Amino acid sequence: MPSASHPTSELVPGAPRHVAIIMDGNGRWATQRGRPRLFGHHAGAKRVREIVEACPDFGVEYLTIFAFSTENWKRTQVEVAGLMSLFRRYITKETRALKAEGVRVRFIGDRVKLDDKLIKLMNDLEQETELNTRVHLTIALNYGGRDEVARATQRLAHDVAAGLLDPDDVDEETLPRYLDTHVLPDPDLVIRTSGEARISNFLLWQSAYAEYEFIDTLWPDFSKAEFGELCASFGCRDRRFGAVKT
Ligand code: IPE
Ligand code: IPE
Ligand code: MG
Repeated sequence: MPSASHPTSELVPGAPRHVAIIMDGNGRWATQRGRPRLFGHHAGAKRVREIVEACPDFGVEYLTIFAFSTENWKRTQVEVAGLMSLFRRYITKETRALKAEGVRVRFIGDRVKLDDKLIKLMNDLEQETELNTRVHLTIALNYGGRDEVARATQRLAHDVAAGLLDPDDVDEETLPRYLDTHVLPDPDLVIRTSGEARISNFLLWQSAYAEYEFIDTLWPDFSKAEFGELCASFGCRDRRFGAVKT
C-alpha cells in the first residue's frame, strides 16, 4: 500500500508516477561505432522524444532526465562545448513538439554557470510550456545533488538570518522546499543505462526511497519497449518505506 507521501500513478495503477533517468553510455555507443563522442550525444538526444511521449502510456506523470552534471565540466573543452551547443539546438528544435504534446518542461541545476543564450532558451521553454500538464519533464542541466543541497542550505541560512525562518523549525519538510525540485514529487523509479551501478550525484535527497534499475543498454539504444518493461516490473516491487507489512 503506497503511503500518502508516495502515491503511485493516477493513470495506471501500480505504475511509477515519477521516473528519473541517468542517460549514460553515449560516449561508449559512439566509440563502438568508431565515431567521436559527440556523435553519441546527438544520438542520445534523439532518444528523448520517444521516451517523453511514451510516459502517458505507462502512467508516468513526471520524467526527470540527467543531461549534464556539475562534474561533467571536467571533460574536454571540445566535448563540453559540443554538449552546450547540442542543448541550445535541442531546445530550439524541440520546443514546438513539446508544446504540442502537452509537456511542461522545467530545468534543475545551477544556471549561473551556463551561457546567457542557453539560459534564455531554458527560461523561454519553461515559460512557453508552463500551462501544460500531460507530462512533467524535468531536465537536470549543470545539476549535482550535493551542489543542490549546498545551494538550498545557503538559501535557507539567508532566510534564518533575515528572521523569516526559525532554526528550530528546520526539519525534513522544510529543507526540500529549498531544493530545485521543490515542486516535484520524489522519484519512484530511477533508471541508469550503460551498466554502471552508481548514482553519480543525481537526486541524492529525493531518491532516498526510490527503486533502482541499472540496465546494460547504452542510452542511444534505449527504447520505448524497454521503458515499458521497466515501468511494468516496478509494479511488482515491494516498497516498504521502513515499515513492516501486517
Ligand atoms: C552520458 O553519456 C551523457 C553525459 C554525461 C553528458 P556519457 O558521455 O557519460 O557516455 P559514456 O559513459 O562515456 O559512455
Ligand atoms: C552521469 O553520467 C551524468 C549524466 C548522465 C549526465 P557520467 O558518465 O558523468 O557519470 P560517471 O562519471 O560515470 O560517474
Ligand atoms: Mg558516462
